[in-house]
Amino acid sequence: MAPLLAQSDLPGLNGFLGTRGSLMLDLVFLAMFAVVPVMAVSVALVKWGGRYQLHKRIQIVLAAVLLVAVTVFEVDIRIHGWRERAEPSPYYASGAVDRMLAVHLFFAIPTVLIWAYVVIAALRRFPHIPVPGPYSRRHKFWGWIAVVEMTMTAVTGWLFYWMAFAAN
Ligand code: HEM
Repeated sequence: MAPLLAQSDLPGLNGFLGTRGSLMLDLVFLAMFAVVPVMAVSVALVKWGGRYQLHKRIQIVLAAVLLVAVTVFEVDIRIHGWRERAEPSPYYASGAVDRMLAVHLFFAIPTVLIWAYVVIAALRRFPHIPVPGPYSRRHKFWGWIAVVEMTMTAVTGWLFYWMAFAAN
């Protein structure tokens, strides 16, 4: 992995995956491999197990962890940038990396807003110990959109990471 040596010249803390990724990029890249299955289990628990309280807890913890991770990640990217790490990629000069980032942001930005809405509205509209009720229909509708958006955010994020920081 030739880029490892060159990494010492790059701004910010380097990652641990042996790519050109920074520490935060590597952490978020890996974390999404946990977030997507945990979210799937949480929905399965509520759909087939009726485990409403457990679903509530898992989704709140997921949302909180993601909020902290995304905030730290954003600060890191604003301070240190990412382009220097992506420039050696064979996909960079053609603009393919930037196009992939645009696709990723097309999903990632609405995901943040939809998740905030789904969590806050669910906390307000379901009873403290959640059970199905008049709010179920709307929650299921937006809940499924939130699940699809998060999955697409993860998939496009992985592709962006690979094109920008892993491809040689
Ligand atoms: C972003 C966070 C959340 C997502 C993505 C989400 C997603 C979902 C989905 C997709 C379903 C439907 C499963 C099915 O088809 O049967 C569902 C059901 C449910 N969720 Fe959530 N949820 C979230 C947060 C919450 C929170 C915070 C609460 C409680 C305050 C909650 C309470 C429920 C309940 C009670 C049901 C069952 C509704 C019914 O079957 O009538 N959810 N959720």
